Amino acid sequence: MDSAFDSSPVGILGGGQLGKMLAQAGADWNLNLHVLDPAEDCPAACCAKQTLGDFRDYETVLKFGADKKIITIEIEDVNTKALEVLSGKGIRIYPGPEALGIIKDKGSQKQFLQSQGIPTSEFSLTSSRQEIENLVRENKLQTPFVQKLRTSGYDGRGVLMVNSPADLNLLLEGPSLIEEKIRVQTEIAVLAARNTHGEVATYEPVEMIFHPEANLLLYQESPASISPAAASRARKIAADLIHSMKIIGLLAVEFLIDENDQVLVNEVAPRPHNSGHHTIEGNLTSQYHQHLRCILGLPLGLTQVTGHTVLINLLGEPGFSGPAKYQGIDSCLALPGVYVHLYGKKETRPWRKLGHVNILGKTREDVKEKADWVRNHLKVIS
Ligand SMILES: Nc1ncnc2c1ncn2[C@@H]1O[C@H](COP(=O)(O)OP(=O)(O)OP(=O)(O)O)[C@@H](O)[C@H]1O
Ligand SMILES: [Mg+2]
Repeated sequence: MDSAFDSSPVGILGGGQLGKMLAQAGADWNLNLHVLDPAEDCPAACCAKQTLGDFRDYETVLKFGADKKIITIEIEDVNTKALEVLSGKGIRIYPGPEALGIIKDKGSQKQFLQSQGIPTSEFSLTSSRQEIENLVRENKLQTPFVQKLRTSGYDGRGVLMVNSPADLNLLLEGPSLIEEKIRVQTEIAVLAARNTHGEVATYEPVEMIFHPEANLLLYQESPASISPAAASRARKIAADLIHSMKIIGLLAVEFLIDENDQVLVNEVAPRPHNSGHHTIEGNLTSQYHQHLRCILGLPLGLTQVTGHTVLINLLGEPGFSGPAKYQGIDSCLALPGVYVHLYGKKETRPWRKLGHVNILGKTREDVKEKADWVRNHLKVIS
């Protein structure tokens, strides 16, 4: 019987900030973590061994995986064909290549949600820009709607709100998921975790609060200020989904709550997620430790919140490009309950995500006030 704590290597496909924070958690248990990432000196390289290479490439993933005990991911856009081969050789792949294949294509992901009777927006699938234009011309599709490229989108890239026919000239080229545009009242996310023994835990929903004009996350609040009924509906859906997808590890489930209080699944991600960064200090078990517990077959950690948390992203200040410098960090760290997480990206660019700050306190008002203060004082310049 092998122990979770032996020295066999555990591979992570992707070495960005999620890989870094996973590796930081792994360092607590002296795990032998290796990341595969194409960027020299990627964020995770600080705390794990790095192999330089492209996680989308079949041969590279096959070679990287050959000597690993377990392989996990920090990004969905990886070569699932190579993972299937590795799985056939007895290497444990979490999440499994089958679930990963369904999720990395927003079209098949949506079909899966529908097949399971999970509440989600109405949709159709298209193969080209021209097809969408034809559907509108023939009155088979009406604005407003949302176009999402089926693969390779992230952080809002690959998503277009088509609010009126005037926006049709902005359509993206490629196979797409077309969704009805929901009149969103609240946007939340729930993390679910499932270990190799099939035990499932979920976290309290978090709420995303966006800038009214810029497409930018202003704060993320934990716990979300939604009704207990909506919170338990969302947690139940997340638990059902991680179970039906047979995922081992984390599943982050994004929800849109509409004006009639319907809780609709927007999309899912089978890995640590940006909506779970607050769990490092804001919950009894961080998402990163929880993910490792799941894939190593360990007992799940408690998910309870430790108080109110607001997360703000640390974005490159507009007007600055070049080596990143952090201004105002000392005064922010002087505040109680302020935890700064820098990802270690060398270069800043306008709006580039370079870190996040978790702000903890006893009341929502207290944490929001501190978050505004931090936002106004902590800047990434060059
Ligand atoms: N059907 C919809 N109706 C209304 N708003 C939507 C709809 N789908 C998505 N959105 C909005 O667009 C945002 C981005 O969409 P989505 O989460 O699918 O894309 P993404 O590129 O994967 O984003 P991210 O990586 O930031 O999660 C959502 O967070 C939500 O605010
Ligand atoms: Mg999303």
